[in-house]
Amino acid sequence: KILIIDFGSQVTQLIARRVREEGVYSEIVPYQAAEAAFAALKPKAVILSGGPESVTIETSPRAPQGVFEAGVPVLGICYGEQTMAAQLGGEVEGGHHAEFGRAEIEVIADSALFKGIWHVGEKYPVWMSHGDRVTKLPEGFSTIAISPNAPFAAVADEARRFYAVQFHPEVAHTPHGALLLRNFVRDIAGCSGDWSMRAFREEAIERIRAQVGTGKVLCGLSGGVDSAVAAVLIHEAIGEQLTCVFVDHGLLRLGEAEEVVRLFRDHYNIPLVHVQAQDLFLGALAGVTDPEVKRKTIGRLFIDVFEAEAKKIGGAAFLAQGTLYPDVIESVSFTGGPSVTIKSHHNVGGLPERMNMKLVEPLRELFKDEVRVLGRELGLPDAFVGRHPFPGPGLAIRCPGEITAEKLDALRKADAIYLEEIRKADLYDAIWQAFAVILPVKTVGVMGDGRTYDHVCALRAVTSVDGMTADFYPFDMTFLGRVATRIINEVKGINRVTYDITSKPPGTIEWE
Ligand code: XMP
Repeated sequence: KILIIDFGSQVTQLIARRVREEGVYSEIVPYQAAEAAFAALKPKAVILSGGPESVTIETSPRAPQGVFEAGVPVLGICYGEQTMAAQLGGEVEGGHHAEFGRAEIEVIADSALFKGIWHVGEKYPVWMSHGDRVTKLPEGFSTIAISPNAPFAAVADEARRFYAVQFHPEVAHTPHGALLLRNFVRDIAGCSGDWSMRAFREEAIERIRAQVGTGKVLCGLSGGVDSAVAAVLIHEAIGEQLTCVFVDHGLLRLGEAEEVVRLFRDHYNIPLVHVQAQDLFLGALAGVTDPEVKRKTIGRLFIDVFEAEAKKIGGAAFLAQGTLYPDVIESVSFTGGPSVTIKSHHNVGGLPERMNMKLVEPLRELFKDEVRVLGRELGLPDAFVGRHPFPGPGLAIRCPGEITAEKLDALRKADAIYLEEIRKADLYDAIWQAFAVILPVKTVGVMGDGRTYDHVCALRAVTSVDGMTADFYPFDMTFLGRVATRIINEVKGINRVTYDITSKPPGTIEWE
């Protein structure tokens, strides 16, 4: 077991994920709870995450001193390096030239951390994000890598097995970072690497049983992979105590409702309530243009519907959702942390406070690709597990401006044509997510001999690993031309098509 102490970095979960990839179980605890967790877990090693605070401020967070006295290996990352240096007798200063983004470090000494990966005298790209830096090392430490703005880019006390790096090895922009973490977890900490998604499945089932006891659980299905995986997992844990509710809010894609109902009722034999709530949702959304208001309205109505369904089955104490980690981090502001609310994902921040049911969210620690692995582990068909993500608020957030039945209808048709062409071109699996957006802008066109004045459709397709960052997909122009021609010819109400070439960041994947 590895204990990860979280100081509020946006990417702490990525550390956990890298550790899981090495087949090692890890647990993240906020620094406030670290002392108790350290005592209870008895981890084989500790990793200190990055964080937004400055070690130079006296009240800023610290790791429990006991962590450094237990004889276990410790790896400090960014803020973790700084607090480690400060707590062990070194010095940290603010106000130096800040480094953000790509940087280059030079390895100046051999270390167990670099073994087989980085070599003395060579330079390697890393990803940095810091303002403060260590200026004096604690006793026993020596420098193993330097960068132009961080003279202590990586330091080690090999005898005590303490390592600290100013850069972020957990992010994909540090190309060898995962291997450094492997060295730490496998060689330095001596963890065996036999943890897997099967173990996660078993632990998750135990956790679900412990949380819900004999209570009834409602699970909201969205038609996407996450809620389906959550439902199947929970069904495995508690069987008949689970009722799945699929809410048709009128914001689904073409044919989607039928597909989901068939899958659950016929394929899995999991009881499913299909609620027709199109009028309720579209009525409440009429005239709403603000993206956050849309999300919150949808979140609120979902709860209304779930609560009504709960009543029908004699009350349910729990509501289950397929919330993933990226949904959590982008919706919740860490207390005192840097994680500002980007969007209220309806299955996290969009829920009203007054909700009577407690949440069951068994996938909260996982990233999308891990959920897919879990889905396969649970025996879901490949074609289903490989489906592109679809957001809970559905087409509402792909229809900027006012949502009308007419725009939704055009959007559904355009989206279906786009995806059909993507499948035909055998590109579906190479793309992480693809969809059409209908814009509130109308432009002039000419069709046949007539003037048209219709909506613009934007096409979006991205590659990504976990939805946290993304790049636009580089279609060839012939493909885009073919899709545009079909949409304009076949969909009434759209006379212009554009392709969105924004990456995330600075864009987000969805338009709202
Ligand atoms: P963004 O737009 O935040 O999207 O870059 C990242 C991923 O999350 C999906 N998404 C949602 N999923 N409820 C969900 O279940 C939501 O409210 C929500 N908003 C965005 C989005 O489709 C993309 O895959």
